[in-house]
Amino acid sequence: MAILHSEKCFSSRSQQSDPMIENLMFQRDLLSIKDLSLAQIQQILSVAAKFKAHPQTNILNNKIIAHCFFEASTRTRLSFETATLRLGGHVIGFASSEGLSVQKGESLHDTMRMISGYADLIVIRHPKEGAARLAADVANIPVINAGDGANQHPTQTLVDLFSIQECQQRLNGLSVAIIGDLKYGRTIHSFAQACKFFDIRLFFVAPDALTLPESICDNLKKDGVRFSFHQSLEEVIPKVDILYMTRIQQERCNKSEYQQIEKQYVLTPALLDAAKPHLKILHPLPRLNEIDVAVDDLPYAYYFQQAANAVYVRQALLTLMLNQEVIA
Ligand code: CP
Repeated sequence: MAILHSEKCFSSRSQQSDPMIENLMFQRDLLSIKDLSLAQIQQILSVAAKFKAHPQTNILNNKIIAHCFFEASTRTRLSFETATLRLGGHVIGFASSEGLSVQKGESLHDTMRMISGYADLIVIRHPKEGAARLAADVANIPVINAGDGANQHPTQTLVDLFSIQECQQRLNGLSVAIIGDLKYGRTIHSFAQACKFFDIRLFFVAPDALTLPESICDNLKKDGVRFSFHQSLEEVIPKVDILYMTRIQQERCNKSEYQQIEKQYVLTPALLDAAKPHLKILHPLPRLNEIDVAVDDLPYAYYFQQAANAVYVRQALLTLMLNQEVIA
């Protein structure tokens, strides 16, 4: 497991004898899960586990992280903020475009270029696909994509993988059902594409109108990811180790499309009677009505632990991207 060279609370190693290993994320951008290698994912998860054991450090002392949220967020923004503060860093930024000069017509290009002169790293969420890539093209500091339209949400995938490893003690030999909005769900797009690195078989369940985009199906086939499509929750629940529920992205659907499908897949305690004993339910959240609140009290529910894990994973990312030294 990687530990952080420069942090006292992690320094049980002998300073002389432990080998230095390469920091695979230093000064890089994280725009898409497809940009990462298996070794990078493993390094991030490994450092995140260290932070879960010892969350409080000052490793980002004097670093300024710009949190640029042009689209609504609770978990991603606040977990990045908590991660930054726990590392001793400082936060600048905004939670919506209200009050910014974009209201006067300033371009994303100019906004990002200017912020890159104020901070050490940019975390950006934007409703448009490709916005994070544009930010990375113009900024001279690392950029993290915290969600761009229906495209990608790579840090959520890292949180999902960390949580699966934690609750199932492995990332291989697993069956995962993904339920909900396969068309617009960026957490699904990122997660499914990360499965090429692991022996994870996917079962997709979605309304016909919200099935997985063909381009992503093609991508999964090319990468050798095993997947199939199913009509009902009843069909997949007995088969899987992880049930990954998602909401319908009503902000990206039209109103009539949304009304027809909003209650099509609702997970209730009764449906879980057929589940494997070790099944765990994940959800990137926010939840609308797709998980009955009565499920929260069952041992299968893992989505609030998953949300809490976001802090450790984001601490790992910020640290690796801004501090060169990591040791094995
Ligand atoms: N999981 C997630 O992205 O949640 P928020 O939209 O609240 O950030």
